[in-house]
Amino acid sequence: MAKSKSVYVCQNCGNDSAKWMGRCNACGQWNTYVEQRITQGPSRSFTKDQGAHALPRSLDEVETDRVTRVDMKNGEFNRVLGGGMVPGSMILIGGEPGIGKSTLALQVALRIDKRTLYISGEESPQQLKMRADRLGGVNSHCQVLSETSLQAILTQVEHTKPELLIIDSIQTLFSEGIESAPGTISQVRDCAAQLLKVAKETHMPVILIGHITKEGSIAGPKVLEHIVDTVLQFEGDTHHLYRILRSTKNRFGSTSEIGVFEMTGEGLREILNPSELLINQQPADLSGSAIAANVEGIRPIMIEVQALVSSAVYGTPQRTSTGFDTRRLSMLLAVLEKRANFKLASKDVFINIAGGLRVDDPAIDLAVIAAILSSTVDIPVDPFTCFAGEVGLSGEIRPVHRIEQRLGEADKLGMRRILMPAFNRKRIDPSRFKLEIVEVTRVQEVPKYLFG
Ligand code: TYD
Ligand code: MG
Repeated sequence: MAKSKSVYVCQNCGNDSAKWMGRCNACGQWNTYVEQRITQGPSRSFTKDQGAHALPRSLDEVETDRVTRVDMKNGEFNRVLGGGMVPGSMILIGGEPGIGKSTLALQVALRIDKRTLYISGEESPQQLKMRADRLGGVNSHCQVLSETSLQAILTQVEHTKPELLIIDSIQTLFSEGIESAPGTISQVRDCAAQLLKVAKETHMPVILIGHITKEGSIAGPKVLEHIVDTVLQFEGDTHHLYRILRSTKNRFGSTSEIGVFEMTGEGLREILNPSELLINQQPADLSGSAIAANVEGIRPIMIEVQALVSSAVYGTPQRTSTGFDTRRLSMLLAVLEKRANFKLASKDVFINIAGGLRVDDPAIDLAVIAAILSSTVDIPVDPFTCFAGEVGLSGEIRPVHRIEQRLGEADKLGMRRILMPAFNRKRIDPSRFKLEIVEVTRVQEVPKYLFG
């Protein structure tokens, strides 16, 4: 007879325990244990004939049929996936509410020339239709279904045999075998595992949409990331137009590509040359703005950095940044104060990265420094000068990776001068670039090049 017992499972990390605990031993989060009743079927013991299903084989005996990837009819999406979706693979798209996950998925479903089943646990078919109309076209390959029961979904998948399955979102699904609410870790894990099994058996690619928790991880967190083949993060500022699709795990491609989109009234538009958009808003002769020759993933992007330095009104000066790490900003200010003798301790400093982007590339440091210096002395930086260089604690300008790509991109956008680490100079052939290359080794040298 089936026995039923209960365990307590941490909703953050999936750790389980026989009794309730206030704080998870594994991840240290408070109040995350939820009781879950599990009905156990007859226990599966290890029997000899289980081995008959699959025998170990040496890798050179395994044949691979050349995988033809599924073209998603979306250049940026394909790029992030490493050239389209692999049949039978499962990808997870995570992102904050309202960032455009459903829009992206529906747009793919409408454009792709394959039979698609779009399951929404959040929107009705009418709402989906309205959205599809906005996205410019309804097509007959794409079927929609509002459903949250996993068993019902699997039945429909068996019936309609879609060539692409989209689940919006994994947190709304529930499997009848598990007595906990949708969105809990055991539901999410079980539903994803069952869908993965179907995907592998039928070679149908599956896109899962996942919500993100306050802390920024995908809810039902690490467990899902282990199950799926590819994890994509859709990020951006909902108040801005630009969205970046980044892969953080990819079994079938590199994780260094990014896709850039713009949210328009007719859905997401692919942006093939992001640099042009991110710097053309630059005002000609205002102080406090500098252009960074950045690399996001492996893609060179020129980004405008803005700084505002003003006298602090209150005793403790404010240091605020959007798109740039605030602790890194404090560090750069300390370096400027100590090594370049700029008195910034009693100043409010604000940093803003154009387009609402969040940058990880440390090479942006030099542009941040230039913008701060420019705002401090209120002299504009030459709009045809750009910057690349990481700043170290002793004020040294450290080398950056992919310098040739940065120079190439700067050239392409008509920049005339770049300030870059002297260390990187050996690796490049300056005759290939029209750009004037200025080598810097310490932050103290920067004002001289900026203001003559
Ligand atoms: P949505 O895809 O619903 O976000 P998510 O599924 O990640 O929660 O997108 C929500 C936002 O996108 C919504 O605020 C409106 C905006 N939007 C547009 O600007 N243009 C469009 O064509 C569509 C469909 C949505
Ligand atoms: Mg949605």
